[in-house]
Amino acid sequence: MEIFNRFFDPGGAFEVLARAGHILVGITWIGLLYYFNFVQTPAFAELSDGARGEALRKITFRALWWFRWAALATFLFGLLIISVQEMSGDNNYFTGQRGTAILTGMLFGITMFLNVWGVIWRAQKVIIGSAESVANGGEPDPRATPELAKSAARMSRTNTFFSFTMLWFMVFAAHGAGFWGTDGTVVGGTIVYWLFVLILWAFVELSGLGLIGGLDSPFNKLAFNDHKKTITYGFVYLAVIYVIGWELLLPA
Ligand code: HEM
Repeated sequence: MEIFNRFFDPGGAFEVLARAGHILVGITWIGLLYYFNFVQTPAFAELSDGARGEALRKITFRALWWFRWAALATFLFGLLIISVQEMSGDNNYFTGQRGTAILTGMLFGITMFLNVWGVIWRAQKVIIGSAESVANGGEPDPRATPELAKSAARMSRTNTFFSFTMLWFMVFAAHGAGFWGTDGTVVGGTIVYWLFVLILWAFVELSGLGLIGGLDSPFNKLAFNDHKKTITYGFVYLAVIYVIGWELLLPA
């Protein structure tokens, strides 16, 4: 079978399988993220307390299982793709345009992955556990406060906001970077580029965590209260990072 020819070579079946796996679990993760933000949250706001508690236990609980494990699998498949890039002996990968693009995508992707496990799931575990206890005639968990629910909601919006920039740079790494620019090593301006990207990244992540002016900071209210605004400003953010960061600050 041809698929086994040069299996581990760059471009061989191992890399194709890793990419296909990465995209499959990636769409599972991000698809559920969009379901939570665009469908579930607005719908839950219209449900009665009892119906919401039941939906949390029966729907959200299941959706979160796929969501968090797909996030982990996306991360792991991403590492597998990198291992092939490394095996290819392409030593300029991370200093070239393609590597710079994927490092940008990974900055956002890995942050999103950590937000899922470190904030969203940690909070939802408590909230759903509390709803479960109430449904069984027990007491609510005192840790399941509105503040905890809000911290998970803010992170979910932060991830939605980041997702457009993350996906652009994922795809751009293999299908654009070095194609309409040159494919050479990025020689200068990299520090300026990274400073620019890191400042924008840190501002949104720290805001989402409530570390800049609290969970109800002016930025959070503007960008995260309404999912349509999260989409709009998320695309503006991508445009700013791409046009100013990539096109202007990074030499071709
Ligand atoms: C969680 C951390 C992530 C890591 C470490 C990661 C890593 C990578 C790597 C190394 C590549 C190959 C780049 C190249 O060919 O030069 C890639 C491509 C890609 N990634 Fe990710 N990724 C992550 C998250 C995501 C997510 C959440 C999605 C959402 C669907 C995604 C979608 C893609 C797509 C569509 C490609 C392009 C594949 C191709 O054109 O062949 N990635 N990623």
